[in-house]
Amino acid sequence: MVVRMSILLTGATGFLGSRLLYALLVDEGHEVTVLGRGTSAELRGRVVTCLTDLAGGPLPDAVASRLHCLSGDLRRPRLGLPPAHYSRLAGRTSAIWHSAADISLSAPLSSLRETNVAGTERVLELAEYAGRGCRVTCVSTAFVAGRRRNGCIAETELDDTYGFETPYEQSKFEAERLVRAWAQRHDRPVTVLRPSVLISDSHPAEGLPQHPFAEMGRRSERSGTALFEGVSGRVRLPMAPGGALNVVQVEYAVRAMLRLAARAPDGPGVRTFHVVHPVDTPVRLILEAVESRHPGLRLEQVPRLTDPSAIESLAAAHLPDFLLRYGAQRRSYERSGILALAPDLADPPPLDTAYVQAALGYERASAHCHP
Ligand SMILES: NC(=O)c1ccc[n+]([C@@H]2O[C@H](COP(=O)([O-])OP(=O)(O)OC[C@H]3O[C@@H](n4cnc5c(N)ncnc54)[C@H](OP(=O)(O)O)[C@@H]3O)[C@@H](O)[C@H]2O)c1
Repeated sequence: MVVRMSILLTGATGFLGSRLLYALLVDEGHEVTVLGRGTSAELRGRVVTCLTDLAGGPLPDAVASRLHCLSGDLRRPRLGLPPAHYSRLAGRTSAIWHSAADISLSAPLSSLRETNVAGTERVLELAEYAGRGCRVTCVSTAFVAGRRRNGCIAETELDDTYGFETPYEQSKFEAERLVRAWAQRHDRPVTVLRPSVLISDSHPAEGLPQHPFAEMGRRSERSGTALFEGVSGRVRLPMAPGGALNVVQVEYAVRAMLRLAARAPDGPGVRTFHVVHPVDTPVRLILEAVESRHPGLRLEQVPRLTDPSAIESLAAAHLPDFLLRYGAQRRSYERSGILALAPDLADPPPLDTAYVQAALGYERASAHCHP
């Protein structure tokens, strides 16, 4: 039986965060306070829209009454809460799920640090104020491994000797380092969850947070003009051939995260878990999904793009950072945590071209173009 907790969740308006909220509030029956930007009423409106979309209908009153919304901001002292709200929140919180982050891959490091590092510090301050009974779960990313291309990344590993592909990775790395120091200083347990790139083949309504593949599909279809519309023949892309990317279905990731947070040992120290797919997705498969939409198009990965044609320059500028930067990776991630703590959770199926096409929104786009 799940013990009902009073949970504080940050990032509930996000792609992953809204699904975590749904699982904690609707599936698990917890009391959840979400802290986010805008007035409390605006925040509630956004969060309820996400939940309604996920549920496929309105929230029952019994569920809505367990949802509380608090206007706050990670970048402000005391999370932007007035002192009385801050102490009341700390007094009633038995667990914190910190999912909020600025996930723009190449925003300036100083601005990413404000949200991702200083913001995490403020969440930990609240956990300290709430006392030892308050369990902390922080969502990080598998990409804290930075520029390391090969080998198996251990769950205990937190190493910056390879450098970083993006300022985002660096900021999340620094946040994890901060979490480790905090747990050691205060002799407290913290669960750190590291998902890889999240994907889904079901599409949130327009205006709701999207996953990176849906963004990629929308970006290339914007204004009805697909990036490769009418293009046939070879188009070179600047990414080393043979690369693979770890992409994991968000529905599986959420189930895994809930089990890991509930089952992680509660003695002091940080427990870090990769929430990744057991099988990497070849970048070639993702490119095949794109090619399938444009008969005659042949996307070719090349280590260096010399004398690019106009369409090659456009493609290099339009393809998302995560694909261009991570397409050269051949590394894998240790998964012993999930295998030990959640042996009852079936592995997600490997991604195939049809799944990636659906995630890119191609089925919907075709249905729209040819009713
Ligand atoms: N999406 C992925 O593929 C992926 C992969 C690996 C790891 N992750 C990690 O998973 C977590 C959740 O990601 P996501 O996909 O849900 O991201 P997302 O869709 O971009 O959502 C980010 C969330 O953080 C909130 N936030 C940002 N700045 C804030 C601030 N200053 N104060 C308060 N809230 C703030 C956003 O609120 P607003 O709505 O107000 O902007 C939103 O709720 C992050 O920690 C991310 O690093 C994500």
